[in-house]
Amino acid sequence: MNHQHLKDYINQNRRRFLDELMEFLKTPSVSADSKYKDKVMEMALKTAESFKNAGLDNVEICPTDGFPVVYGEKIIDRNKPTVLVYGHYDVQPPDPLELWHSPPFEPVIKTTELHPDGAIFARGAADDKGQYFIHIKALEYLIQNNLLPCNVKVMIEGEEEIGSPSLVQWTKNNKEKLKADVILISDTAMLGPDTPSIDTGLRGLAYMEVEVTGPNRDLHSGVYGGAVANPINVLCQMIASCHDQNRHITIPGFYDDVVELTEEERKIFAKAPFDLEAYKKDLAIDEVMGEKGYSTLERTGTRPTLDVNGIWGGYTGEGSKTVLPSKAYAKISMRLVPNQDYRKISALFEKYFLSIAPKGVKVKVTPHHGGNPVVVPLSHPALKAAQKAVEQAFGKEPVFTRGGGSIPIVALFKEVLGIDSILLGFGLDTDALHSPNEHFGVRNLLKGIETVPLFYYYYSMTK
Ligand code: BES
Ligand code: MN
Ligand code: MN
Repeated sequence: MNHQHLKDYINQNRRRFLDELMEFLKTPSVSADSKYKDKVMEMALKTAESFKNAGLDNVEICPTDGFPVVYGEKIIDRNKPTVLVYGHYDVQPPDPLELWHSPPFEPVIKTTELHPDGAIFARGAADDKGQYFIHIKALEYLIQNNLLPCNVKVMIEGEEEIGSPSLVQWTKNNKEKLKADVILISDTAMLGPDTPSIDTGLRGLAYMEVEVTGPNRDLHSGVYGGAVANPINVLCQMIASCHDQNRHITIPGFYDDVVELTEEERKIFAKAPFDLEAYKKDLAIDEVMGEKGYSTLERTGTRPTLDVNGIWGGYTGEGSKTVLPSKAYAKISMRLVPNQDYRKISALFEKYFLSIAPKGVKVKVTPHHGGNPVVVPLSHPALKAAQKAVEQAFGKEPVFTRGGGSIPIVALFKEVLGIDSILLGFGLDTDALHSPNEHFGVRNLLKGIETVPLFYYYYSMTK
């Protein structure tokens, strides 16, 4: 592959790439909120259109039980290897709106400390529109210039941010269509602007909702306070008892299936440069907090967690109201690591939570979505190809890390299709994914478009 030719193409088309991505980012494709339903559909259409413009064949908007999967392919030779690209065109809700410096669906380019060449600010810029856009443009380059060295299939779904509820069945129904040698995903982050890295794992997720009911109605907290269980007090105590003083999780059996890292793996991951002071400064915290005995990167990448995502009940309006509430609620997520299984962990959580409930309250536990953890085999030929591609594009060898986030369908791809995934992400953890002012570096975007064709080239050589 002629690297200079590729770089020239990117330079010459830079403005158009940015304009096209901005168009993507104007569509509020929020899958979680039904008021955006039409917009999610509009995003599927825009994505399909971009596939066609890149030169992909058999472009389809495939219906599922929920939002559709956008599919396209370029088959050049049945005897060559096939790469399946996955991404998602849905985004997280933009709330809280008042904390955005510019409207979430009116993309603007501004410079930041980490992105001196500019970053595009909009919901979905890094997660995941900017990142799957990289693949469309890399394929545009390869197809238009007749340089594609292997077969590609591309599937971009519209329900990742709500746990991919319809994709499992769709994948099972489309095994033949999705047949491939490896899956390529850009939906994770690199360690820093000058520290290219590749995730070799993702955490799983078990997401639960709990409801604690005390008395049958809200009560006067003076008349009844102190005499009947307050469900909010009780819920807080129950949640607190899920961790011990070392921040280990106390749910019996929780760690049973956790595979401890080998010394060799620990050494590989310890190579990742990490600046704790910069980390704390970015978050405006004096100290980090986590499980005793593990470094920050180990805590986020290789250890399971339990976190309250939201908690509510009682009076939260203006001023004060003296009330002993009837109910309290919380949404609790657990991040899982190999070989934990989200169904088993959900069941253990439910059993434990019910067992610690004091008499005087009723507890209901409802599981939401879940997904299993993923490990990418370090010896996978496509991982080596990704390593070479990143090294050539960034001029620096990437380090291997483990991503703390989850992409639930990745474990299922392995289970149902038997295919490993390569997590070739170009965002940064500090790009404010899911937060106000999400952004994606222009340089990250362009380097991504440079890396992906090199990946295809190296991967085709190794096969
Ligand atoms: N792209 C993220 C996952 C991610 C982010 C992995 C950064 C590694 C590093 C994905 O869109 C996401 O947000 N996943 C959700 C799970 C989903 C079921 C809502 C998550 O991790 O919370
Ligand atoms: Mn994502
Ligand atoms: Mn996300």
